[in-house]
Amino acid sequence: MQRTPLIAANWKMNGSAALVEEITLALVSVPTEGADVLVCPPATLLRQFPTSVNFALGAQNLNQEKSGAYTGELSAALLLEAGASYVIVGHSERRTLNAETDIVVAAKLTAAVEAGLIPILCVGETQAQRQQEKTQQVIARQLDAVYASQPELLAKSVIAYEPIWAIGTGESASPEQAQQTHAFIRQHLAQYDAQAAVKVKLLYGGSVNADNCAALFLQADIDGALVGGASLKPAEFAQICLAV
Ligand code: G3H
Repeated sequence: MQRTPLIAANWKMNGSAALVEEITLALVSVPTEGADVLVCPPATLLRQFPTSVNFALGAQNLNQEKSGAYTGELSAALLLEAGASYVIVGHSERRTLNAETDIVVAAKLTAAVEAGLIPILCVGETQAQRQQEKTQQVIARQLDAVYASQPELLAKSVIAYEPIWAIGTGESASPEQAQQTHAFIRQHLAQYDAQAAVKVKLLYGGSVNADNCAALFLQADIDGALVGGASLKPAEFAQICLAV
């Protein structure tokens, strides 16, 4: 494969110091060659990981400003200092629950890249949008908002396709459905930078588990996964990492 797969855990607002220890242990036996592994815990847990872990750490959000009077917010520099090398940007839960617009998402992604964090841009449609056959239109808008004016950011990004109807529902997109949308994303990205579009990692997210991951990973344009619920079970997450 021309792209090294990436398996990323998004703990969301879950986890504990005990889970840090458990996942660190569970991932010790996962080989580091052939695939990259990433854990995105709540930011308060980043420092709890030993510096010797054989996987990368990431944050789930950042503020687009460098510093200042933004109570409760975390800048890219603070996340880097806490040990993060990746950051999730534009997760649908933040777009919905925190009213993050495409403009805010683009500003956050720019801030992440400028600071040296690798952003994982999340895109995806709702159930209603899929039923109205607007999946491609929605995703094109989400991608255009970030890359149309700053195509140079693509080479420094990872993109996660997360159909909202599949998040936390136990109902994953089928491998064929996911591949179809991933192929569309890669094709759409080629208009910004054809070389970067071939190289960019496209992760699938939405009810990925140890049982369905292998079939997803067989798809030509699926380069790994962004795993929510199943990443809170260290043994299952390790199995997913081994399946890629
Ligand atoms: O960031 C992860 C996604 O929202 C998927 O979550 O695996 O619990 O469906 P899930």
